[in-house]
Amino acid sequence: MHRKGLSSKHVFEELKKIHVLDNHYDSGRILCSMCTKPHPLAEKAYRLFFESNLGDSGLFPGSAQLEREVVDQLATLLQSKGAVGFIVSGGTEANLLALLAARNMAKNSHTEVVLPESAHFSFTKICNLLNLKPVYARLDGAFKVNPSEVEGCISKNTVAIVGTAGTAELGAVDPIDELSKIALKHNIFLHVDAAFGGLVIPFLPEPKPIFDFSLEGVKSITVDPHKMGMSAIPAGGILFKDAKILDNIKTETPYLTDKEQYTFIGTRTGAAAASAWAVFKALGMEGYRKIVAECIENTKMFAEGIKRAGFDLLVEPTLNIVAFKGHDTHGLAEKLWERGWFISYVPRYDCVRIVVMPHVKRRHVAAFLKDLVEIEKL
Ligand SMILES: Cc1ncc(COP(=O)(O)O)c(C=O)c1O
Repeated sequence: MHRKGLSSKHVFEELKKIHVLDNHYDSGRILCSMCTKPHPLAEKAYRLFFESNLGDSGLFPGSAQLEREVVDQLATLLQSKGAVGFIVSGGTEANLLALLAARNMAKNSHTEVVLPESAHFSFTKICNLLNLKPVYARLDGAFKVNPSEVEGCISKNTVAIVGTAGTAELGAVDPIDELSKIALKHNIFLHVDAAFGGLVIPFLPEPKPIFDFSLEGVKSITVDPHKMGMSAIPAGGILFKDAKILDNIKTETPYLTDKEQYTFIGTRTGAAAASAWAVFKALGMEGYRKIVAECIENTKMFAEGIKRAGFDLLVEPTLNIVAFKGHDTHGLAEKLWERGWFISYVPRYDCVRIVVMPHVKRRHVAAFLKDLVEIEKL
């Protein structure tokens, strides 16, 4: 640290120099991220609520109101009237709170969680933290978890079943309706990780998969405004079917304006709730429907072009994620990186993965496909 502070102008000039080192969504070259350029109002709202701390929400009742309203809107979108929840630091914390609730609701001796093989890696961290043993259920040919495999993984030690509505790698949607029946039959907590798909699936045309609170067995859902919701980072979302579940994740706070906290993070920004609130208001259902339709259209353009170039899709996309492979997929991924395309290489499936977020426009798809064809011809 400098002995004497520098002028704001000087500091900001320094920051700008470093800022250019970051990649920016506007380039259209980021094809591996589940985040996107936030809606312009998300930024304005974030700045307005910049100093707010929902970890001490008695001081910030306006921010607390916004969080409640965002959660209410998410609950309505996910077909619930009474769901409660929080805007948290992301999908990881949301999934953590769900499994914490499930573990604490079960008896002490219960120590296992049944996960699809495709579950997000956040569950590896969570199982470590909560001392839970992950029991993995196999997938079917469409990369969705096989319900009979899930049922076969259940034991007297199971605290929860997890299903994913929009897997991170392929955008697959597990048969949550089947998982719900299994959860009810065995009286086990069912958590749905819809961190990505929760703000995509509701805006798809019919027929679309059912994954929400309309299914009786679903007890909690992760749904992240900072992914397809176009809110500012960090804005994850956790919703619980009813308020009683919250008793299992409550911590008393000895000196704050609130008597208790339910989130893992203590001090947490109210700007996240404000930014999600602003984007929900500005876009409405119609706005999100339009954005999702455009992403799906661009996904189809990617898929068709990739097939025309001679590559195989792992699976026809359900959501706005495309994955494909060729004879030397890792070599192909390296060539795409060399040409400045930020794609993911997924070792588990030996595939290239593209997430078609709102910042990816038709012209970017066309430029990518041109490069892909050129690389294939070399
Ligand atoms: C399905 C799913 N769950 C959980 C997460 C973790 O979310 P975060 O990175 O916001 O913690 C992700 C992240 O991409 C995800 O796709």
